[in-house]
Amino acid sequence: MLVGLLQPFKEPTDLAKEISIEAQSKGIEILYMNPSDINEDDHIASGLVLKGDTWEDTEMPIPEIIDVSAFCLKSKQKIAYLQDRAYLTEGGRNKISKEKVQKVMEQDEHLQQYAIPTSRCKTFSVIKGYLLKYGEVVVKPIYSQLGEKIYKISQVNKDEFIIGYNKTSQKMNLQETFSYFQNIISKDKFIVQKYIPSRTHFGDPFDCRAHLEKNKEGKWVIAKKYIRVGIGQQVASNIGQNSSMLDTGMFFKLKFEKDAQSINDHINSFALNMAKKIETVRKQKLVTLGLDIGIDDSKRLFLFEANSAPDTSLLQEEVAKLRTDYYTYLLKANVELIPKEIV
Ligand SMILES: Nc1ncnc2c1ncn2[C@@H]1O[C@H](COP(=O)(O)OP(=O)(O)O)[C@@H](O)[C@H]1O
Ligand SMILES: [Mg+2]
Repeated sequence: MLVGLLQPFKEPTDLAKEISIEAQSKGIEILYMNPSDINEDDHIASGLVLKGDTWEDTEMPIPEIIDVSAFCLKSKQKIAYLQDRAYLTEGGRNKISKEKVQKVMEQDEHLQQYAIPTSRCKTFSVIKGYLLKYGEVVVKPIYSQLGEKIYKISQVNKDEFIIGYNKTSQKMNLQETFSYFQNIISKDKFIVQKYIPSRTHFGDPFDCRAHLEKNKEGKWVIAKKYIRVGIGQQVASNIGQNSSMLDTGMFFKLKFEKDAQSINDHINSFALNMAKKIETVRKQKLVTLGLDIGIDDSKRLFLFEANSAPDTSLLQEEVAKLRTDYYTYLLKANVELIPKEIV
């Protein structure tokens, strides 16, 4: 039994190796591919197969099931070609931006409590309106940039604002704030959001990353949760090297004491409901999802972002086990899943 693994890198990652080893133990062969390995004329995929400890070049017909990294969706033509011939775990349909995910929650009676008021800000006047309403706001790019370009604005009084960015904080008057942000938001697509004070006892921003995968029954499970703290940061918990990871159990006990268990359970149920909702909105089954969840001073949960290609470096073992379990489920269901015309 064969499953293709389509990833953006030429060189297989450590995760790809771990998935291949785990898959072999379940009787599944993994063909590691990069979009450029797909030959549309001959309907052949050249790729790599793990033999012992080394990756060997090989050529095969296009696998019937392909686990597609969302980072490969840029190769639109290859994806469209593959979609006609195989079952893809991610086809890129109905992608949900940071703005859209908030709308989706707002419109769902069970999820609206987790939504953060959000608007596109093509002009500074939108930011000004949010400041008037909420006092503290975040301005960030609509598409993920790994904790980059995340700004916080606090209005102190009519003509005084504090701008927080990375580890710095600057006082500005209205005119200076206007020029500063007009320049930023003219260069990229940005949104403005109410600021959610998700902070540790020391005042550093934190969030809870809930990483979901599918299991062997094809159901969502939480592969791992962990806390990210942006030590010394003004807003973002996840700035590159400067973010530190903590165990949720210990962190929740220290921060929320007797409420630790109920917050943990609440995150689990929210994450599972959110994963199902995202699949409904995207009109496709997915295989992986990373949710960035903030917890404010009154212990309310909010969703900062839903990632369709979450980082796996902290949970490779868990991902490899669940992902290959899910492959066994997909292979069993294969006959029903393959588009009718090629069955
Ligand atoms: N509205 C907000 N209020 C408070 N903190 C926020 C808000 N939006 C983002 N952050 C902080 O910035 C981090 C990065 O934001 P996110 O939207 O996940 O962008 P990225 O795609 O760069 O990860 C979040 O994990 C959170 O710590
Ligand atoms: Mg994020």
